[in-house]
Amino acid sequence: MQALVTGGGGFIGSNIARALLERGDSVRVVDDFSTGREVNLEGVDVEVVRGSIEDRDTVDRAMRDVEVVFHQAALPSVKRSVDDPGRTHAVNATGTLNVLDAARAAGVRRFVYASSSSAYGDTPVLPKREDMVPSPLSPYAVSKLAGEHYCKAFTKVYGLECVALRYFNVYGPRQDPTSHYSAVIPLFATALLTGATPTVFGDGEQTRDFTYIDNVVRANLLAAEAGPQVAGEAMNIACGERVSLNELLSAIAEVVGLEDFEAVYRDPRPGDVRDSLADITKAQTLIGYVPEVRLSEGLKRTVEWFS
Ligand SMILES: NC(=O)c1ccc[n+]([C@@H]2O[C@H](COP(=O)([O-])OP(=O)(O)OC[C@H]3O[C@@H](n4cnc5c(N)ncnc54)[C@H](O)[C@@H]3O)[C@@H](O)[C@H]2O)c1
Repeated sequence: MQALVTGGGGFIGSNIARALLERGDSVRVVDDFSTGREVNLEGVDVEVVRGSIEDRDTVDRAMRDVEVVFHQAALPSVKRSVDDPGRTHAVNATGTLNVLDAARAAGVRRFVYASSSSAYGDTPVLPKREDMVPSPLSPYAVSKLAGEHYCKAFTKVYGLECVALRYFNVYGPRQDPTSHYSAVIPLFATALLTGATPTVFGDGEQTRDFTYIDNVVRANLLAAEAGPQVAGEAMNIACGERVSLNELLSAIAEVVGLEDFEAVYRDPRPGDVRDSLADITKAQTLIGYVPEVRLSEGLKRTVEWFS
């Protein structure tokens, strides 16, 4: 099949592209490499369309003969969206609308959308279930949820089969540790591996449901193949377990082989949620998703890759 991975130069997109190639699909990537890295696609046999998903001509070119779209392109950071909400909206919401409209016009069969657990916000009830009312806390969360709503509308109005996967804190190989906006596991892992002091925003007792990349890639493949009953649905993709950032630091230190380490604690960041844990029953039922790689194994593989 001909697949299009938007944001295929990024962490999750490049891992999806590799998995598709391994099973014999043809893969095209559209990426402006604003947060992604060309090194992620080094030695990978994909066709790259360089440009922004904000540009309709670029997206139309990328969409030619495509059967399934894996829409990963976005500006993925809460902090970045707090710094520049307009830019985040332009790429994540308007850009998604652009990709959806091009997919509809090209007759794409299935559209798998990278949504986010941030849609839930600080709901007091855990685990988070898809039937809860979303309560996005940050401009990033709003922009990702807007994309999800566009997906639903495109299924209803045009019959484009969209599936939204609400990822919970994804981590693993090829995640960028170098940016000011990097996620917590690459930052903690590289700090502990290089003898630097990791920074924790808040008291470290906030919790997350960390999800290893291979589970997310598998969920994407399952969502692409599932029957038409998944069209218009959104589902959590997570591990179904939560740990605090303090526990996470200790677990990474153990994998690295450090007996002792120190962390600095700074003020919590605006827009960050306090606790996160997913109910993954819906994805299990609808697409047969099972998180095969659990946290301890995922951290081992991640630290190995970063070192
Ligand atoms: N990593 C996570 O924990 C997580 C959690 C929830 C949702 N998500 C979503 O998953 C997707 C992938 O995230 P990631 O962690 O791989 O981030 P990433 O930054 O590594 O990947 C995003 C990719 O999109 C590209 N991109 C950005 N703006 C673009 C534009 N205007 N046109 C074309 N390409 C553009 C970037 O260059 C990059 O390659 C995003 O949609 C993100 O919102 C990620």
